[in-house]
Amino acid sequence: MSADVRRAAEILKRGGLVGFPTETVYGLGADASSKEAVARLYAAKRRPADHPVIVHFADARQAFAWARDVPEGARKLAEKFWPGPLTLVLKKSRKAGDFVTGGQDTIGVRVPAHPVAQELLKAFGGGIAAPSANRFGQLSPTTAAHVRADLGKDAELVLDGGPSEVGIESTIVDLSGEGAVLLRPGRISRPELEQALGALIQEKRADSPRHSGGLERHYAPKTPARLVPPHELDREITRLRDKVAVLAFSRPDERVDYWLRMPREPLGYAQRLYATLRELDGAGCESILIEAPPETPEWAGVRDRLVRATT
Ligand code: TXA
Ligand code: MG
Repeated sequence: MSADVRRAAEILKRGGLVGFPTETVYGLGADASSKEAVARLYAAKRRPADHPVIVHFADARQAFAWARDVPEGARKLAEKFWPGPLTLVLKKSRKAGDFVTGGQDTIGVRVPAHPVAQELLKAFGGGIAAPSANRFGQLSPTTAAHVRADLGKDAELVLDGGPSEVGIESTIVDLSGEGAVLLRPGRISRPELEQALGALIQEKRADSPRHSGGLERHYAPKTPARLVPPHELDREITRLRDKVAVLAFSRPDERVDYWLRMPREPLGYAQRLYATLRELDGAGCESILIEAPPETPEWAGVRDRLVRATT
């Protein structure tokens, strides 16, 4: 184990905050069993206290100990996708304090795959509460440098595990009620989930549990951004012209100063999405036009983040 990981585990044990890599995005971690540590976490994030936070574990056995009445479906999904970019919302057990569940009777648990996250979880030995390591409402960080830029000294230590491989936050499935509900799309798509589960997954209902990713305009760049259907891109560029940045699949248009070409497949696109939006945000443009991706299930995670970034 590296000296940095050992130090990070010690900081967590005495109630401090550490930034660490996961395969989805970087997290800001705190001891999930300490009310004071979690309060410090919410203060650093500037996050309202009634928003629940995901608790991370080294393995499924520990994760399920924080839940009760774990349904067969949860075990199937865990078996197939953990460690990995999936969060399960389950009924909470007595181990989970109200301060990590936002006062709800459910808890979000995840077993991340990133080797540094795994090392840290093993060294720490318990649950690590970790939202994405950005301030509330800002873009999620996918590098250690993003975390330092966003949170400054609020993270005592930031472990550097390189750029996040998935690039968008975990898929969240709620199994705390009847059936399974997709609360947040991500790298693991609905068809993959349904195949592992052997059952259909419902869309989010209006009365689903609160989750801050569900707030409009949550994953937002500061520059006004708009999602444009491919066939309207050319007309929009002609109309706006001045200081416009474009995120597109097609070749650069010479009328546009700042053109970023994105991969035509969803995994590569997701991996670069937040770093690209940060770059565009720093480019000093007046607006951002984003060519809309296809309406297929594989693109649902990317589409969800783009819709939020442009609402
Ligand atoms: O990929 C990820 O999930 C990253 C990495 C660090 O693990 N974490 C992350 O955390 O995205 P955060 O806090 O930024 O977003 C967690 C989402 C929020 O929308 C939160 O409200 C929801 O999960 N959530 C957590 N516990 C929940 C619960 N009990 N019921 C419903 N939603 C819950
Ligand atoms: Mg977040």
